[in-house]
Parts: sequence; C-alpha cells; structure tokens
Amino acid sequence: MEAAELREPQARAGEDRSAYAGVLRYYELAKRAEWQVRDLPWGEVPPIPEYTGSPQKLARRRDMWRSVVTQQLQADELAIEMAAQLFALAPDPEAKLYYTTMVQDEARHTEAWLKLAQEAGGTAERDPYLDELARFVLEAETVEEKVFLMQVFYERLIIPRFRMIARSSRGTVLEDLCNRLTVDDGIHHSSGVAYERVLLQRADEKTKRQLIAGAKRLLPVFVQHALWRPKAREVIGRLMRETDERMLREDIEQGIRLAHSFGLDVGEIELTF
Ligand SMILES: [Fe+2]
Ligand SMILES: [Fe+2]
Repeated sequence: MEAAELREPQARAGEDRSAYAGVLRYYELAKRAEWQVRDLPWGEVPPIPEYTGSPQKLARRRDMWRSVVTQQLQADELAIEMAAQLFALAPDPEAKLYYTTMVQDEARHTEAWLKLAQEAGGTAERDPYLDELARFVLEAETVEEKVFLMQVFYERLIIPRFRMIARSSRGTVLEDLCNRLTVDDGIHHSSGVAYERVLLQRADEKTKRQLIAGAKRLLPVFVQHALWRPKAREVIGRLMRETDERMLREDIEQGIRLAHSFGLDVGEIELTF
C-alpha cells in the first residue's frame, strides 16, 4: 500500500498494511453493492402499505407510515453530514477512499427517502433527539470518537430496525428500500469497526478516555431517541414499548462488548429506563 507508506514512512509496514487492507476490502465491497434510486420498484408496487377500512383508520395508518419514513429521511440527511466530515478528517488515504462511497451512499439514501416521502403524501414530525445525536458526532473532537459513535455504535443499531420495518411493509417500495439499507449500513458498520481498530492501535490514552466519556454522554440521548414516539405513532409506541426496551438493552450490551474488543474499558454503565 504505497499511499500509507508515503504518509508514514516510519510506520511498521507489516502491521499497518494488514489493517488498512481491511478498510480497502470494504471499499471494494461498497462499490459492488452500489445501486441506483431508479432501481427501486417505483410505480410497480405501492410506496407504503395499503389498507382497507374506515377513512379514519386509513388516515391513521398513513400518518404512521409517513412518520416512519420521516425519521429515516432525517437520519440519512444527518448521515450525509457525518460521512462528509469523516471523509474530510480521516487522515489515512485508504479510509478517505472508503468514505467517498459512504458519502455517496448516504446521499443516495436521502434521495430515495425524499422521493418516498413525496409518494407517501409528505413528511411528519422530526425526532429532536436524532438531531441531538448527530450534533454529538459532528462536534466530537477526534476521528476515533466520530467513527465509534456513528459507524460502530449507531449504524449497527439501525440494521434490526430496517429489518423490522421491511417485515411489516411487504410488497412495497419501502420494503425494498429497507432491504437495500440493511446491506449498505452493514458495510458502513463493518468498515467502521475495521477502521476503528487501526485508529485505536495508535491512539493515546487521552483519546481513548475522551472516546469513552463521549459515548457515555451520548447514551442517554440515544435511549430517548430509541424510545421517542411522535403523535402519529403513540398507540403503536405503547404496544411496542417492551420490545423497544429489550432491543435497546441488547443494543447497548453489544456496544459495550464491541468497546471491550477494542481494548476500551468502559467501566460501569447504568441503564435507567
Ligand atoms: Fe444511510
Ligand atoms: Fe449509513
């Protein structure tokens, strides 16, 4: 890997090379998985699930799905900014190359959600906690912390949620889109794990301590985001509360295990919900 050697001629080549190869592999994978918004089954299947019943019931369902679409649109809009920041700040050429694919992915996701929102009759209420989460990542001081919060932590959590949405929206554009996003965010997450390992191998103790402190500050906001339900989904939110809390616990435990696998000692974490 010539580029890495040029940048850091004093680096122990053997060690760094294998680590960067991991990041490069995800670049190749991302290029192969690339798709276009026009590939979605627009016009062939309904954008969101259709129901029969009273006008009130239909309106309630439409509001609910509009709200689901709005949250994902919001998440991908914010993801463009975060991915662009990672692209700008990543010091390693291999990572920079990889992030060109992530910026394109998040922009394409947003494009698809914007079209879907339009076909579904517009957008709904924004999740204020999601904006706050994004601010945490954008304002984090180090690349190590940004990669951890966005790719290692957040993008892994979103995957089971896409699967859940897909399962309840069979035969729609929404289902097709969620299936594609499961694949894309799987790559975003795994590439982040691969890059974070390289970053943390050379990070000092202060950077690691900052990262852990940042993750702990983010956690309560993440809990509020995961459990937040706008008006349109209040009823379903109550029904889902138990599932949400169980998923949340599993997500956080998995995040802690991942942190441990990076050699980070996260200490005590108290979950109050
Ligand atoms: Fe995305
Ligand atoms: Fe993503």
